[in-house]
Amino acid sequence: DRQAIIAIDGPAGAGKSTVARQVAAKLGLVYLDTGAMYRAVTWLVLHEGIALDDECAIAELASGCVIELAPGQDLQSPVQVWINHHDVTQAIRSIAVTSNVSAIAAQSAVRQALVKQQQRWGKKGGLVAEGRDIGSHVFPDAEVKIFLTASVQERARRRLRDFQKQGQSDISLEQLEKDIAERDWKDSTRKVSPLKKAPDAVEISTDGLSVTEVTEKIVDYYQQRL
Ligand code: C5P
Repeated sequence: DRQAIIAIDGPAGAGKSTVARQVAAKLGLVYLDTGAMYRAVTWLVLHEGIALDDECAIAELASGCVIELAPGQDLQSPVQVWINHHDVTQAIRSIAVTSNVSAIAAQSAVRQALVKQQQRWGKKGGLVAEGRDIGSHVFPDAEVKIFLTASVQERARRRLRDFQKQGQSDISLEQLEKDIAERDWKDSTRKVSPLKKAPDAVEISTDGLSVTEVTEKIVDYYQQRL
C-alpha cells in the first residue's frame, strides 16, 4: 500500500528535470533525479582516477558509495548531490562528467546498485522519478508514465541557454547537437535497460510548449488517472 508514483523518462535535454520539479511541487510529491546519481558515480570514478572500462573497480565503487540528494535552493535549481560526503552539486554538471556518464550508466553492476537504492527510496511512493528506465524498469507499476521528447535541435538550443546562464559561452550549438545525439544513441542502444518508451507510457513532445504547459498536461493526466 503505497502512494502514487509518476515516472518521467526521455532523452537528454527534453526538459525532464525542470518539468519533474514543477510537477512534484504542484502535487506535493518528492522529486527523484536518477540521472544525478549516475552523474555522481561518474564523478567519483573520474575523481579516483579509475579507468572507465575497469568494470570491477567501478562495480565495487558503485555498490559501496553513499549518495545523498536534497532539493535545490528553489524550483529553478537542480537537486543538491553528495557522494561519499563530497558536495558534487555543481561538478556533476561539468562537461567531463556529461561526456562520460553514458559509459558508466551502461555497466550492469552500476545500474543494479543505483536501481536498488531508487527502489528503496520509492517504497512508500509519493514521488516523481525522472530518468531513462523508470517506467520500464525501476517502477514498472507507476500509476503515471510519461515519455518526454523534443527534437535534437530544440534540446540543443535549451542546453545552450543553460550554459549561457552559467556564464559558459565557449560552446557551440553544433557541438551540443552532436553531443546530445551521441548520448541518445549510447543510452538507447546499450544492453542493460536502454532508453525506451514503456508500452503504457504517454508520449509528450515538448517542442514549442512552455514548461507550464507541459506541467499542466502531466498534472491533468495524473488527476484523471487517480
Ligand atoms: O538525465 P541526465 O542527463 O542527468 O542523465 C545523465 C545520464 O545518466 C544519461 O545520459 C544516462 O546515460 C544515465 N541515466 C540512466 N538511467 C537513468 C537516468 C540517467 O542511464 N534512469
